[in-house]
This record gives sequence, structure tokens and C-alpha cells, in this order.
Amino acid sequence: MLKRPIIMDVDTGVDDTLALLLVAGSDKLDLKAITTVFGNSSVEDTTKNTLKICELLKLDVPVAAGAYRPVIDPPIDYSIAPMVDIHGRDGLGNVGNRLPEPTKQVENMPAVDLMAKAVRESEEKVTIVATAPLTNIATFLMAYPDLRSKIECIALMGGAAFGGNMGFSVEANIGHDPDAAKIVFMSDVPKYMFSLDATMGCFITDDERQAIADNGGETGVWLKDCMQQYSDIYKALGGLPGAVLHDSLPVAWLLDESVVEFKHCYVDVELKGVKTRGCTVTDLANYTGKAPNTYVSMKADREKLINMHVEAVKKFK
Ligand code: RIB
Ligand code: CA
Repeated sequence: MLKRPIIMDVDTGVDDTLALLLVAGSDKLDLKAITTVFGNSSVEDTTKNTLKICELLKLDVPVAAGAYRPVIDPPIDYSIAPMVDIHGRDGLGNVGNRLPEPTKQVENMPAVDLMAKAVRESEEKVTIVATAPLTNIATFLMAYPDLRSKIECIALMGGAAFGGNMGFSVEANIGHDPDAAKIVFMSDVPKYMFSLDATMGCFITDDERQAIADNGGETGVWLKDCMQQYSDIYKALGGLPGAVLHDSLPVAWLLDESVVEFKHCYVDVELKGVKTRGCTVTDLANYTGKAPNTYVSMKADREKLINMHVEAVKKFK
């Protein structure tokens, strides 16, 4: 069976970690490279976290660091940024220190060059899975326009047709770099947007987190604990039964397309709104008459998604 070649662009991150678990536990995906970017934490921390998670999950793939800041907006000051607490001060639920310092080294090239290398060397078109601000993806599309034809699609976690989690109408991955998101959404590369409309229903309960611990040996126990604070915050702030595994949804879709229902419509990114900059304006009713440019996730099968994690972690029992 041919494995699907993918690249992951992450800001590891608790839910980015669970997305990487699905990749590590599958024999359907050929992970060519991982690139890192600022977002949940500084790019230094997201890169170090990604190296640690690669070693934890035995992902022997090149990792390259990318953007430390948005293309236009000022860099985030992580010494005061609130989002660091959602994923813990270390970006790994405050249990990153239970993992050994990584021996794996980051590649001596910028993220966009590693993306280009992986895409060029792949015989098949490559799927880009983006679970972070889109700065690296936008930079890659601008720096290597000739490689657009070798991209199967961009499967990005981000945006929302309704609501938001960074202000009332902006989702964090888009809101952290709206200008980069605009470049990505205006590109001619096929796009699948795994938005809050579907991901907010993808919570994991305490019992299901325990099942990951029970089925995954020490790795499973660490993953359960890594989600603890993230889960407490979602319970307290969102009134949900547990942590929301936003970033797992695009990977789960690659493994089983039945896990998500889409609507094909025109999506643009608001850049000028005082309160709405970074909103993914989603034309569900085709008011604009513009041709659809994005498949937007409207519904997800939560149980199917969570079960994929329990199956994936068995590899580490
Ligand atoms: O809005 C959710 C997204 O923001 C996820 O990718 C999470 O990791 C954070 O980056
Ligand atoms: Ca993320």
C-alpha cells in the first residue's frame, strides 16, 4: 500500500503532540519532515518540544525551525502572553521536563527550505498538514511558487465559520498571523480548513485520557498527564468535558475521511477589522457568488477521532 507523503508544520503544543501521535501510530502516512513555528510558545520552545516529542514517539524525521514572528504583526512577547498557560509554561502541559533533553538535532536550514527539499524529493505530491500559525506555509508558497504543483493539498487546523477562541470571531492559528493566512487562502493550492466549527466538538474526556494511559505504557501515561492542564482549562473556561484535540482532526481525516463532513465554499481572511482582524470570513450561503476555494469542516465524528488515539498509542505499550 502506498503511504501518503506528508509534511507537518507545528507549534508543539499539547494538541500538536496528539496529532503527531496519530502520525506515529499509523502505517498510512509517510512523514517527510516537520517544521516548527511560533504560536503556542516561542519558536525556540516549539522546536525543542517537537524534538522531544519526535524522540518520545520514535519519529525519525528531519525537523527544521521556522518563523519566530508573524509576517507583519509584531512578535509575541511570551513573557506575558496568556496562551502559553493554556499549553503550560513549557508548551507541553508543564510535564515537558519529564522527557529527556532531546539528542535529536534541528536541521541546519530554515523550515521553508526543508519543506522545499521534501517536496522536491518526493515522487508523489505532498500533503502539508498545518497545525499552527500559517507563517511558514505562506513563506514557502511565496519563496517556492514552482513547487505549488507538487502539493496535494494544505490541510490546516484553523479558522471558524462561526465564533472564535482568540476574541469572539478569530481562531488562534489565523489570528496569530492573519496576513500569512490571507496569502495561504488566496493561493491556488487545494485547501481543507479544519475549523473550530468541527474541532470544538473533538474533546477528550478524563476516562478517554485514562484509556490512552492504560494502552500506551509510559508514553501513554505521559500523554495523559500532558493533557491535564489543557483539559482543566477547557473545563473551566469552555464548560467542556475535557481538552479539545483541534490539531488531531486534519491527521485523522488523512487516515479516515469519514471522520469529517465538509462544505466547499469561499473563504477569505479579514485584515482590516478593528475587532475582526484574522476572522476567516466563510461564505457558507454563497452570498458573494465567488467560486469556492476551501473545504470547511462543519462536523466531526468525535468518538471515531478519540478511538484513533487509543489505537495509535498501543504501539508504545
Ligand atoms: O485554535 C487552536 C489552535 O491553536 C491549535 O493548533 C492549538 O495548538 C493552537 O495552536
Ligand atoms: Ca497547534
